[in-house]
Amino acid sequence: MTSWSIPIGKTRYNQTVYHNINKIPHAKVAGATGSGKTEFLRYLVTYMCMRYSPKQLEFIIIDLKNGVSFAPFQWFPHVHGIFKTVPEAVDAIKKAYETMVERLIEVERLRAVFRREPVYSRLIVLIDEGGELSPAFAVTDEDKAMRRTAMHYLSSIARIGREPRVNIIYGTQRPDADTLPVAIRGQLEGVFCFRTENELDSKIVLRHEGAEKLRWIPGRFLYKSPLVKHDIEIQSPYVPQKVLKRLIEPLIPSDTFYDIPRDEVRFRDEQVQEAGDVACLETPMKTKRWGRIS
Ligand SMILES: Nc1ncnc2c1ncn2[C@@H]1O[C@H](COP(=O)(O)OP(=O)(O)O)[C@@H](O)[C@H]1O
Ligand SMILES: [Mg+2]
Repeated sequence: MTSWSIPIGKTRYNQTVYHNINKIPHAKVAGATGSGKTEFLRYLVTYMCMRYSPKQLEFIIIDLKNGVSFAPFQWFPHVHGIFKTVPEAVDAIKKAYETMVERLIEVERLRAVFRREPVYSRLIVLIDEGGELSPAFAVTDEDKAMRRTAMHYLSSIARIGREPRVNIIYGTQRPDADTLPVAIRGQLEGVFCFRTENELDSKIVLRHEGAEKLRWIPGRFLYKSPLVKHDIEIQSPYVPQKVLKRLIEPLIPSDTFYDIPRDEVRFRDEQVQEAGDVACLETPMKTKRWGRIS
């Protein structure tokens, strides 16, 4: 049996705390800007992709802050895509929903004839800056309808995703009624609450104050779960860029070549010379707009 206990950090007594994603399938990650949400989500993806095979675990990553934070994760075979815009995100959530429905139908059929059920991979829909999906931010009616559909799918996954193993990890600054309907919020039982801006935000996330009083250390959070009596203060791990590079670089296909066209950038050592320096250049150079040297 695969264990789904994920280490999520350490307490002040140096004890490692685990979150069991099998028992608590959905979670929310909240806190003010700069509190460490994105780093924590990046750690979760890295840790889980290193520990589980793509047959055991799949990710759909929705990063509504333009996908920059998760770009390297596209090379993990577990990751089905990094979706950066609202329409892309809605589409991805719909696909996760459809997968869930297909699994449910198959299980129902198999159970009816007393056949063995397959062990499905765990499909995690991981969302960063989920607030951006809110129907409240819609520009047009069409846009609003699309966002509402996404909320509908998410709420369905949150309610019945446990058995078919479709899970949600939802990151946002503050999951208020606008950004996360109460019906979904209640189902995201695992709570990772980083420092909030004020008492009210803490109450929205944890149902009590306290997260606004956390020390201002990035990665410090309160962990709440139906399986623990009291919230636990934890310092989250994070994956330094160097380590991430070492882990992911071997996964990049060798025919991947990406470079910015040479004439569109100026590297530091090619900076346009200052007026004083130009005078001492042997061959004077013409500087075009944007400082390109010809
Ligand atoms: N667990 C951590 N340990 C050390 N530094 C961290 C940790 N988490 C975050 N940081 C630092 O804090 C900065 C902001 O974190 P980030 O995850 O981007 O915040 P948020 O997504 O909540 O706005 C990061 O760039 C990183 O330097
Ligand atoms: Mg962030």
